[in-house]
Amino acid sequence: MNEAQTIAVEVTAVEQVTPLIRHFTLKAAAGGALPAFSGGSHIIVVMRGAARIHRNPYSLLSSPHALDTYEIGVRRMEESRGGSQFMHDSVTVGSRLDIAHPVNLFPLDKIARKHVLIAGGIGITPFLAQLEDLHGGAVPYELHYSVRSPEHSAFLGRLQEREGGHVHLYYDSAGQAIDFDGLLSRQPLGTHVYVCGPAGLIERVIGTAKTWGWPASHVHWEQFSAPPVGDAFDVFLARAQCTVHVAPDRSLLESIEAAGVEVPYLCRGGVCGFCQTRVLELDGELQHNDHFLSDREKAGGRTIMPCVSRARCKTLVLDL
Ligand code: FES
Repeated sequence: MNEAQTIAVEVTAVEQVTPLIRHFTLKAAAGGALPAFSGGSHIIVVMRGAARIHRNPYSLLSSPHALDTYEIGVRRMEESRGGSQFMHDSVTVGSRLDIAHPVNLFPLDKIARKHVLIAGGIGITPFLAQLEDLHGGAVPYELHYSVRSPEHSAFLGRLQEREGGHVHLYYDSAGQAIDFDGLLSRQPLGTHVYVCGPAGLIERVIGTAKTWGWPASHVHWEQFSAPPVGDAFDVFLARAQCTVHVAPDRSLLESIEAAGVEVPYLCRGGVCGFCQTRVLELDGELQHNDHFLSDREKAGGRTIMPCVSRARCKTLVLDL
């Protein structure tokens, strides 16, 4: 993706749905329908602040059957480098933003005989759009939604109104927890499980599914990593023949883009593999934060995902 492929949108509604989550509705600034998408898709939102540009991925939670608007939910991340704070503090009704075309890295399996959806907190958002595809269909499904307390349960009214019997809710504050073993040990053959939410929840579902012998192809998860802050370092781009400084609060990808060099990307969250870049020289260590490379590839030190990974090094030369 590059900037030329973005769509200008206008914010038509903003609603605080929990103490931490805001719900934004967007329409095409030029009018007309937005591009088609399927449940589980995300968009990259480009936020042009005074001092810097943020580009963050957000799942589309609106119906894939209603393309006059897109809806996203944004959780304020206090530890973030500013993107979610920009959305909460600076984006209001009438604001203009740019977005990338939707991409689906978390689709429902087309031949599944049943779908089990497991959400934690803001991880509910991709499932809201998927439920629009599942609702009224022939394939059985159930949603298990775990949140801190009733005030943190986003979009619950919408879920209960449409999906009542399919939704199972768990409040941490009431000591309620998903029985992962019970849930994943009793599903019929051909069931697919999907999980989105905090890292601990995803690891728990993947681990439990493995214990009960689920094929890896039937276990789906999505977790966009936010690029972490870290030590500053310099990187030399061999093809562009320039040195780029990566500040502690900038990602490697953002720093390369700021130097005018384009790197392909789809997720900016360490999931899709599109930004994978060859390491030509390294004196130091790579700090891999992606979910794409294998442990062996990470240990090999010959490739890096600049959207979320960085380096602690004296020398780093990339094939860019
Ligand atoms: S853009 Fe998807 S892994 Fe980097």
